[in-house]
Amino acid sequence: MKIGVFDSGIGGLSVVEAIKKTLPDEEVIFKNDTKNVPYGAKTPEQLFGLVLPILNQLAIKDGCQVIVIACNTVSTTIIDKLRKELEIPLVAMEPMIKPASRLTKTNKVTVCATPTTLKSKRYKQLKDLYGKGIEFVEPDCSDWSYMIETNNVDSKKIAQIVNDSCRQGSDVIVLACTHYHWIEDIIVSNARGRAVVIQPEEPVVKQLMRVLEQFA
Ligand code: DGL
Repeated sequence: MKIGVFDSGIGGLSVVEAIKKTLPDEEVIFKNDTKNVPYGAKTPEQLFGLVLPILNQLAIKDGCQVIVIACNTVSTTIIDKLRKELEIPLVAMEPMIKPASRLTKTNKVTVCATPTTLKSKRYKQLKDLYGKGIEFVEPDCSDWSYMIETNNVDSKKIAQIVNDSCRQGSDVIVLACTHYHWIEDIIVSNARGRAVVIQPEEPVVKQLMRVLEQFA
């Protein structure tokens, strides 16, 4: 099997690692968009124009049978449109609102995501569906992808956002951007004893495995 993985930048590599750990025998082809990263403030229209040609390359030129969209920003905005264009299955990822709602005891959940994800209809829909009675704290993480992409992580700034969230009473922190998986350790160590940190690599790999079973 050839599995394509797409993200704007290095966030997707964390997902590639997770896939390879569980499925070491599958061929994984990773593509990102180094020219246009970060995607976090782009409109759905801009994203569609940038992403479709890259997915077509993965599907047609590289011959992938399935593509993992390792990008919340793309998944929460244009996944339906992309699915209409491509003939192969797309495995998407989205903010883990449902699991967070089950985990929280304080009914306060912090969601770290890009501005475009936080503005998306799908994110609002997830909160309406699963977040009744829960207050969502949405800190400004708009420069995190760039910091991570350029290897210029300001740990103090991240610690401050995590501390603010915990002080406000959040007991769950959702990492809803794959770039943030690379700073998970910093977030976990600052939240320790106060909030759990969740991110979707495991469920995404499980979903990928369910899709791959269809080809068996
Ligand atoms: N890693 C992506 C996400 O999960 C996009 C981050 C960015 O390019 O700003 O949302």
